[in-house]
Amino acid sequence: MAKVAWGGGALLAPVPPVMVTCGDMENSNIITVAWTGIINTKPPRLTIAVRPTRYSYNIIKERGEFAVNLTPAQLVRTADFCGIYTGAKVDKFKKTGLTKAEAQNISAPIINECPLALECKVIQIIPQETHDLFLAEIVAVDVDTDIIDSNGKLRLDKAGLAAFAHGEYFELGRRLGRFGFSTDKSKSTNKKYKNNKHSERKKD
Ligand SMILES: Cc1cc2nc3c(=O)[nH]c(=O)nc-3n(C[C@H](O)[C@H](O)[C@H](O)COP(=O)(O)O)c2cc1C
Repeated sequence: MAKVAWGGGALLAPVPPVMVTCGDMENSNIITVAWTGIINTKPPRLTIAVRPTRYSYNIIKERGEFAVNLTPAQLVRTADFCGIYTGAKVDKFKKTGLTKAEAQNISAPIINECPLALECKVIQIIPQETHDLFLAEIVAVDVDTDIIDSNGKLRLDKAGLAAFAHGEYFELGRRLGRFGFSTDKSKSTNKKYKNNKHSERKKD
C-alpha cells in the first residue's frame, strides 16, 4: 500500500469518548475524555489525560477519585456537550438531563444512563507537556443489568458503545470475531466469522 509520511501526531483511533464524573453527589461535574486507556490488568489500572486548564482537573486532583462512564451511541451528543462546555459555568447534569447514581467505592457519582462505569482512585499524577496523566486503580465496576445475559455474562456488544476517531463519533458495528478466534480451527467458529479471513484491506 502506498503511504505518505507525516510528522508525529495524536492519531490513535478509535478511542472511547468516555464521560468522566468527578466531585460528589451534591457538587459534581462531567468532562469528556478521549485520551484514556487500560495500563494494567491486576490490579486493574487506567489513565486519563486531562489538561490542567480544565475545571475538572483540580477536582480530580484534590479528591483523588473519578468515574469513567462508557458512552453509548445515543449519548454522543451529550458527551460532545460535556466536552465543549465547562463545569465552571454550566451544571452539566442539569443541562443534559443525565442523572446521578451513587458509586460503590468513591464519592463521585456515576451516570445512570451509561451502561458501565469504572470507579477509579488516583495513584499518581504524571505531568506531560499539554495534559497530565491521572494514573488510577479501578476499584469497582458498575454494570447495567440490561447488558448481563441470563448466564451472567457481560454483553458489551449490546451496549451500543460509541467510538471517536479523528474528530468524529461512530457507533460500534458488526462483531468480527472474539479473543483468540484466529487460532480456532473449529467449523462453528469459521462459519460464524467467515467474513473475516486474513486478507488485504478493502479498497473503495
Ligand atoms: C470527544 C472529546 C474528547 C475530549 N478528550 C479530552 C481529553 O482526553 N482530555 C482533556 O483534557 N480534554 C478533553 N476534551 C475536552 C474537554 O472535555 C473540555 O475542555 C471540557 O469542556 C472540559 O470540561 P470542564 O472544564 O468542565 O472540566 C475532549 C472533548 C471532546 C468533545
